[in-house]
Amino acid sequence: MSPAPAFGPVPPDPLHGRRIAITGGTSGLGLALARAAHARGAKVALVARTASEVERVVRELPGSAGIVGDVADKGAIHPVALQLTARLGGLDILVNNASSLGVVPLAPLADTECEELELALATNLVGPFRLTRALLGALAASAREGTGAVVLNVSSDAAVQPYPGWGAYGASKAGLRHLSAIWDLELRELGIRVLSADPGDMDTPLHALAVPDADPATLKPPAQAAEELLAVVTAALADRLGQQPELETAS
Ligand SMILES: NC(=O)c1ccc[n+]([C@@H]2O[C@H](COP(=O)([O-])OP(=O)(O)OC[C@H]3O[C@@H](n4cnc5c(N)ncnc54)[C@H](OP(=O)(O)O)[C@@H]3O)[C@@H](O)[C@H]2O)c1
Repeated sequence: MSPAPAFGPVPPDPLHGRRIAITGGTSGLGLALARAAHARGAKVALVARTASEVERVVRELPGSAGIVGDVADKGAIHPVALQLTARLGGLDILVNNASSLGVVPLAPLADTECEELELALATNLVGPFRLTRALLGALAASAREGTGAVVLNVSSDAAVQPYPGWGAYGASKAGLRHLSAIWDLELRELGIRVLSADPGDMDTPLHALAVPDADPATLKPPAQAAEELLAVVTAALADRLGQQPELETAS
């Protein structure tokens, strides 16, 4: 007779009680991340520009904190950072997910206005830099407490592949990817990991704007990408990632 299976206490979810801030948490991947983290017992705060959407998600996710702010706006960063740490009581995980294509419809660089390139850079590169920098003290405090601290910057295959028409977005994501790798090396001694990850092509409003004729059935559900990215975060919290600066998830 085989021995009876041993039922012990279920280990706690590594996200349970963790304080996580997600920019762009009202749509697509950000909303899926907020829902998944909330379901796993994390304390969730989300940031987006549209107040009614922020309120809608906060109603859906009881106990979550909603902050209205524009990550591309220099003047908004410190108020957003202060609200995030005040509402969460500190910060363990920051996900820089909010994003802009810069040019809609997508256009060759020759037809891209400087202001459109600036919008992509402000939203996808400078905003995440500013917000991360403003939150370093809170993240370092969390790392000192021994729970680990992680910044996840949402990347794209356009960060490494030069797709025609994706110049503004691709350049901003390439910058974010490289920034992440350098920051990861610089912040290790504080116990903070900075990662970037490509979620793959997902069925979201941003993808529909970029590729209007794509068949949604061929795209990844954002909920699946969210689980994959949260696995990256929990692995980093457990310090199992070694020196690898970017994990490419399956598309
Ligand atoms: N979808 C894909 O196939 C795909 C592929 C590779 C990578 N990605 C990356 O995945 C991430 C999520 O994309 P998604 O497709 O889920 O996008 P999405 O559905 O368009 O959602 C974007 C979210 O960001 C918010 N947002 C946009 N600009 C903002 C700003 N300046 N400040 C604050 N919040 C802002 C939006 O709300 P408001 O408009 O109300 O601010 C919304 O909540 C992005 O980083 C994107 O580059 C997506």
